[in-house]
Amino acid sequence: MPTEECIETDVLIIGCGIAGGVAALELAEAGLEIVVATRTKQPQESATLFAQGGIVYQGLEDSSELLIDDILRAGAGRSLPKAVEILVREGPSLVRSILIEKLRVPFDKAPNDELSLVREGGHSLNRILHAADMTGRQIETHLIEALQTFPNVKILTGYTAVDLLTPAHHSRDQLAIYEPLSCAGAYLLDQQSGNVIRCLARRTILATGGLGQIFLRTTNPEGARGDGLAMAYRAGARVINTEYVQFHPTAFHKQGAPSFLISEAVRGAGARLVHADCEPFMQKYDSTWGDLAARDIVARSIYQEMLGLGITNVYLDLASKLDSDAIRAQFPWIHIECLKYGVDITRDLIPVVPAAHYSCGGVWVDEWGRTTVRDLYAVGEVSCTGVHGANRLASTSLLEGLVWGHRAAIHAQKEFASHARSNADAIPGWEETGTEEPDPALINQDMATIKNIMWNYVGLIRTGHRLQRAIRELRHLEIEIERFYRAVKLNDPLIGLRNAVRTALIVTIAAWENKKSVGCHYRT
Ligand code: SIN
Repeated sequence: MPTEECIETDVLIIGCGIAGGVAALELAEAGLEIVVATRTKQPQESATLFAQGGIVYQGLEDSSELLIDDILRAGAGRSLPKAVEILVREGPSLVRSILIEKLRVPFDKAPNDELSLVREGGHSLNRILHAADMTGRQIETHLIEALQTFPNVKILTGYTAVDLLTPAHHSRDQLAIYEPLSCAGAYLLDQQSGNVIRCLARRTILATGGLGQIFLRTTNPEGARGDGLAMAYRAGARVINTEYVQFHPTAFHKQGAPSFLISEAVRGAGARLVHADCEPFMQKYDSTWGDLAARDIVARSIYQEMLGLGITNVYLDLASKLDSDAIRAQFPWIHIECLKYGVDITRDLIPVVPAAHYSCGGVWVDEWGRTTVRDLYAVGEVSCTGVHGANRLASTSLLEGLVWGHRAAIHAQKEFASHARSNADAIPGWEETGTEEPDPALINQDMATIKNIMWNYVGLIRTGHRLQRAIRELRHLEIEIERFYRAVKLNDPLIGLRNAVRTALIVTIAAWENKKSVGCHYRT
């Protein structure tokens, strides 16, 4: 029996990090009815919440040209200059008007009470705003608090998007296939009841974040399974640059502990990468910059050390560089998180490994966040605006989410009155295919297989043989997963597994097709 429950809204936003949240805020202020759907139990739980590094603002001796040059250099010749220019021209004033003035995010101040500006890898000068090591956390909590004050914003937590509603695929009207591809909302799984509802929307904004969880090691939160990318792909949207997955050199690594980011700012503060005997090693890979070499060089060097010596991790030594009060003041969140797993960073070496961190590619969008599917926008990490090219400059991702969240909201309001919602009767309710609960052992094992394939064959160092092997194994796995998906009841892990295997194939095929090492795509 199809589930008939249906909600109708002006704009559906899937995901609730900085990009989706800013879009929701602007559309809510314009008086539209907004539904924000997130698979997490708390609306704050997004990649933004975990962003320790800061957000690009404006340095004292800074200029747009200087920042543009830095972003283009990091992007290794693959960034879209028009998109970079939009980011640079609009970003700092949106940081001021939305984050500082409207949301009152408490960014760090210097002793003279001016905003404190720091420098990060790849930047020509100090221009980054921080809130200690909790920049994303501060932005996200202030954003959600603001959204919760709007009666026209309905935040659905614990709702997983299953698929986008595209009349060409879903309509009862057989002739809908002759219309241009368009999006009319999404099927959403209510995790608590197990029912799938139709959410019909005049405009839909994908803001589901990245895909780090398809790799064995990642700094990304649990939900970064490529859900948005896979849904957009199935809906027929154009997807580009997905081989450019940025690996961060330092994620916490300890048996039984989750993997989480240890910010580059820790090395910026003087910490060195060492082995268990405290011997540093980065100088032999980059004699000029040593521990502060570009992110991908450091990540690959650690990987080589681990492979060469057959070790599971290396270490960050912060304690011999900073005294414990300074460590606690600069890195309060990292200090507390590591303590939970028995590592006191004011005293001990911090065990770290490289980990998948950021997807520079994604769903192709134009300067307003429009995808190639009508009425479907994508913002934040799930999208590819062209800003990051083949590699992302530190602290530009929150800024990109802010700018494109804002831009998509402006565009989505246009011609609203003349734009009718799809007829609810034309889109059928969700047809449940199986009655049996999915076996968690199968889901966990398949997910572990995807993560291992991606880490070992499509990770920091890629070869033709590894990529071919990965494609064959993932294709076989996808057939098995699709069969399983159609035979049992839906749940969130199963939806994630189906999206993860499709996303893994998208990334791997792109990596196979791009024969040239560039930016964070490295082939031997
Ligand atoms: C970090 O804090 O090391 C990450 C910052 C970023 O990815 O922009």
